[in-house]
Amino acid sequence: MIVLGIETTCDETSISLVKFENQKFEIISNVVLSQDIHSIFGGVFPEKAFRKHQENMVPVLKKALVIDIQEIDIIGVSAYPGLLGALAAGVATAKTIASLLDKPVIPVNHLWAHFLVNFIDKEITEVLNKKYLGIVISGGHTSSYLIESLIPLKITSISRTLDDAVGESFDKVARMLNLGFPGGPIIDKMAQEYKKETNLNDFKPIFPIPNPSDYSFSYSGLKTAVKRYIEQNKELENSKIKEICYHFQYSAIKHLVQKIEKIIIDFGIGNVLIGGGVAANSFLRDELNDLKQKYNLEILIPPVNLCTDNAVMVAIASVFLYLSYPNIPNDFDIFPNEDEGNRLWNMS
Ligand code: KG4
Ligand code: ZN
Repeated sequence: MIVLGIETTCDETSISLVKFENQKFEIISNVVLSQDIHSIFGGVFPEKAFRKHQENMVPVLKKALVIDIQEIDIIGVSAYPGLLGALAAGVATAKTIASLLDKPVIPVNHLWAHFLVNFIDKEITEVLNKKYLGIVISGGHTSSYLIESLIPLKITSISRTLDDAVGESFDKVARMLNLGFPGGPIIDKMAQEYKKETNLNDFKPIFPIPNPSDYSFSYSGLKTAVKRYIEQNKELENSKIKEICYHFQYSAIKHLVQKIEKIIIDFGIGNVLIGGGVAANSFLRDELNDLKQKYNLEILIPPVNLCTDNAVMVAIASVFLYLSYPNIPNDFDIFPNEDEGNRLWNMS
């Protein structure tokens, strides 16, 4: 089966071709065009994102279509959650191609796609009987899920952030420090430099590790603590900026990992799929490795280029959905909100 994936939920226009054969996925092409325009705003400007998707869609499609378009069997498109105009650009393109080819078009939950991309290297028959936990850590979302089964795909939401998303907090702290956008990779790099240059034997975190009740995540308190600290230290030389990056990243990631640990223990599930832009973070990867050793877990994290938004993940998720629910009507709507979109599948 050849799948065309389309991704336009936020500020990446991405189109991919993925082959699913003998129970395995293979990437045929993957084109991701990021919109640099948002860096001057320190965050994504929704109207500009929509206009850029319009502009980029045809060139990205032409580049991704490395085979005869008639060979495509299904089309998967991120239909929720995301920016309304941005979603519309991708879904309109997907429906048009599907209608011309007379093929099914599958509305994909962008967040589920972030963790399902981990199956890129797996033979699907080997994973079908397992339950998984899914963790999405991106610029707009921080959420956990129980994946009860893969085919038929059955996913329920466990928890979300009560306020800011983890990636959003990286972006906001980077903005406070005038470091550029997106903030995550820059803070990650500054923190790595700080670690190399500093003796951390007597390390004590400056910022509190958030700890809301139950399985929820929370980042606005940490962000405010960093803001206050910056205001109290007006003259910020480069070494101080690196120190703030290290300490902020430490508390942000420790919070994530502590919650992931609690969810694993309480749900009694040792197979975990991580996804989303923040999964590229080097400190998180080290911490998850320690967690994996401690409990003998299976923790899958995508390669860095498949952590941030891409259409390969959308194509992969659409295969699970199509194999589970083959009679999906092609006339679905788009949904900025995740819960509304999940009603398409009678899931919550
Ligand atoms: O998944 P994604 O591409 O877009 C959304 O769906 O939101 O995630 C983008 C987010 C941004 O907030 C960015 O700062 C963050 O992922 N990010 C990172 C790293 N690389 C990207 N955060 C921390 N460390 C990184 N290395
Ligand atoms: Zn995303």
